[in-house]
Amino acid sequence: MTSDSTSRLEKRIAVIPGDGIGKEVIPEAVRVLHAAAEAGGRDLAIKEFDWGADRYLRDGTTLPPDAVEMFHRDFDAILLGAMGDPRVPSNVHAADILLGLRFKLDLYVNARPCVLFDRRLTPLRDRTEQDINFVVFRENTEGLYVGMGGFFKKGTPDEIATQEDVNTRKGVERIIRYAFDFARRTGRTRVCMSDKSNALTFAHDLWQRVFKLVRAEYPEIEASHLYIDNLLMQMVRDPSQFQVIVTGNLFGDIASDVGAQLAGGLGLAPSGNIHPGQVSLFEPVHGSAPNIAGKNIANPMGAVLSAGMMCAHVGWAAEAKAIGDAVRQALREGIMPAELGGSHGTRQIGDYLANAVARGGLASS
Ligand code: NAD
Ligand code: IPM
Ligand code: MN
Repeated sequence: MTSDSTSRLEKRIAVIPGDGIGKEVIPEAVRVLHAAAEAGGRDLAIKEFDWGADRYLRDGTTLPPDAVEMFHRDFDAILLGAMGDPRVPSNVHAADILLGLRFKLDLYVNARPCVLFDRRLTPLRDRTEQDINFVVFRENTEGLYVGMGGFFKKGTPDEIATQEDVNTRKGVERIIRYAFDFARRTGRTRVCMSDKSNALTFAHDLWQRVFKLVRAEYPEIEASHLYIDNLLMQMVRDPSQFQVIVTGNLFGDIASDVGAQLAGGLGLAPSGNIHPGQVSLFEPVHGSAPNIAGKNIANPMGAVLSAGMMCAHVGWAAEAKAIGDAVRQALREGIMPAELGGSHGTRQIGDYLANAVARGGLASS
């Protein structure tokens, strides 16, 4: 076997723990990932990057200029913890690193599954695993996040501040199409698009028109629309009506935190920032949680499940399944952090999950 074919079998993962609880949950996710790779007979090469608030405060580094080219060239995927630190109130390092990677790697799909693993976890009365199982597809490269805008007469009583909601025909079409393709590919039958076109009559009119064109190409999929305020209410009232939700950048950010709590808690929720076929970035939905950082109480399951999504993305289907099964088993057996009403620490949960994955004894595929 040539070294070339060997390196094709190996997966090269960049790991960016980041700030706060990112530095606690990512080591656990990496431990579980190693256990899964070993059980499956896979080769894993991990390289860690110390980007985050500490590094920024030390030497001003945010996203190095060669980072994007390096990720394209040298890595199959990126696993990230969280960015955000009270010592950097401008959040400039998070904008450069996290939003910078989403934009510059053109990771236009932000996939955020909301899946209830155990009915005891949802705050909704009488809801079961059958009722809460949907994916939010959040547009991830434009909208209100592009940073267009500015101040005029800043700090004066006449100050003006603007922030543009940038929506391109190409950007809107590709995320809506991805949602329909996902539904078709996975046997789902419903897609709901959400916007605020009753008030945002230019930007979201584009979403309306593109949605109508794209849905016509998927006649077997039941396509519906809800304004974002109604969507969030309906998610709480009856989440069973949703299978696939597709929406813009800011609304998707908000809807995915609500969805995370419906499924038990923010610390459980995984996500993928994806450009199909290209190097993509996986991270828990939660942030750096400075209020609980350094206490070994953060839930590492969202980070672990993100590593599972990453496995699926790089073609390690059995490893992805083993990781999901391990989390499900932990929850069933009451191996839970304070967030979910348990008393297990971050490292203890990581131990349990790594052992469960190792015991799973995956057949190499
Ligand atoms: P957050 O997600 O960090 O925390 C919100 C609440 O959920 C807090 O009460 C926190 O303790 C709890 N929580 C979050 N993750 C948890 C976990 N794994 N286990 C147990 N409890 C958990 O959101 P925030 O407080 O609004 O933001 C804190 C910082 O994180 C800010 O700087 C923000 O910008 C940043 N942030 C970063 C990301 C990211 O990097 N992807 C995402 C969200 C927020
Ligand atoms: C997320 C976060 C980020 C976002 C912040 C940190 C900029 O909330 O990934 O959900 O809004 O995208
Ligand atoms: Mn968010």
